[in-house]
Amino acid sequence: MNLSPQPPASLGKSLVLVVDDISKNLQVVGSLLRIEGYRIAPATSGAQALERVRAETPDLILLDRMMPEMDGLEVCRRLKSDPVTQPIPVIFLTASNEMEHLVKGFEVGAVDYVTKPFNPPELLARVRTHLELKHARDTILRYGQELSRLNEEKNEFMGIAAHDLRNPLSAIKGYAEMVVEDGESLVHGGVSNIPACGRELQENGQRIGDTAARMAEMVQNLLDANRIERGEMKLDLKLTDLCPSLNQVIETQRPRATAKQQTVHLESDAAPVMALADPNVTVQVLENLVSNAVKYSPPDRDIFVRLKSGAENVRVEVRDQGPGLSAEDQKKLFGKFARLSAKPTGGEHSTGLGLSIVKKMVEAMKGRVWCESEPGKGATFIVEFAKA
Ligand SMILES: Nc1ncnc2c1ncn2[C@@H]1O[C@H](COP(=O)(O)OP(=O)(O)OP(=O)(O)O)[C@@H](O)[C@H]1O
Ligand SMILES: [Mg+2]
Repeated sequence: MNLSPQPPASLGKSLVLVVDDISKNLQVVGSLLRIEGYRIAPATSGAQALERVRAETPDLILLDRMMPEMDGLEVCRRLKSDPVTQPIPVIFLTASNEMEHLVKGFEVGAVDYVTKPFNPPELLARVRTHLELKHARDTILRYGQELSRLNEEKNEFMGIAAHDLRNPLSAIKGYAEMVVEDGESLVHGGVSNIPACGRELQENGQRIGDTAARMAEMVQNLLDANRIERGEMKLDLKLTDLCPSLNQVIETQRPRATAKQQTVHLESDAAPVMALADPNVTVQVLENLVSNAVKYSPPDRDIFVRLKSGAENVRVEVRDQGPGLSAEDQKKLFGKFARLSAKPTGGEHSTGLGLSIVKKMVEAMKGRVWCESEPGKGATFIVEFAKA
């Protein structure tokens, strides 16, 4: 798509419908506009004007206010009540002694007025201004439609690509596990030289498996982001005990923390702690927050996860002793592809999608999520769930 604005030269080809029951006026206005290069459609009554509009949609209408049978106000009212003709700008042609009726003209949808007898430069200036405005509005509308079509196409493409990557990735993970097992049997096979070979096989198999798992996580993130963007996220929102979800998350993340000599502490002031939530989505949300705490904290630090039950809501707080976030970084934190000042401390991957997904998921569950932090003093991420 070419997003550069079209030159206003095309205004010259614009079709202007001129409506006046006095043919002399039609001739004067018509010849004035023709000299400027506009195309003219004349009409001598309201009924004829509506007919002409149906035959070819004009870009602008100059409409006499006072006409026998159907007056200008009625014509304008009819044009504005039809979605096809509603966007056409209407300029009223009014005698100077009809000024008190002007408000009515604007009320029925006119954009401007010109008083008779005409001052040619004024008439031309008003016509040009409103044609330019209409042209700009049409262009924005066209670009908007084109952009949402392209965005839809991009989402579809991303969804297909991410979805199709999942199967080969799980096959790679499966084969990697087999390689690790083969290595193990060589290590324990008792044949000289083979154990060293087996260990190497085991290590390489492990690396392939870890890499495939990381890629699968990225693909899952892309699929989630896509699903949310297309409004296709399905929620099973119900009163849920958050304790098992939190325990599951901590047990999944603990090996990563332990590998960095970090300790994860869990505190809860009660059990069970019931809140309005989707259990699977909650696990995904909390996994993102705890995995961030592990990812961005240096080794040897503590991570504190607290579950607090209040009168109207339940909070889960994930506090770390990592680098924290500046005010500037906090503003961008929940945006898409936000990779900020803090970098992973153990070579973990970072796509910058996790928190944008978290925010959408939490809000879909009628909750809130935010971060409290000062640079150098760690960060606390808080998720608030409704109780009912
Ligand atoms: N606990 C934290 N402490 C300091 N910075 C953080 C913390 N959590 C997130 N950030 C910063 O915010 C950015 C966005 O986090 P987000 O979870 O959205 O993406 P990510 O971790 O980079 O990638 P992924 O998509 O794998 O989650 C991170 O790149 C990091 O710079
Ligand atoms: Mg993350």
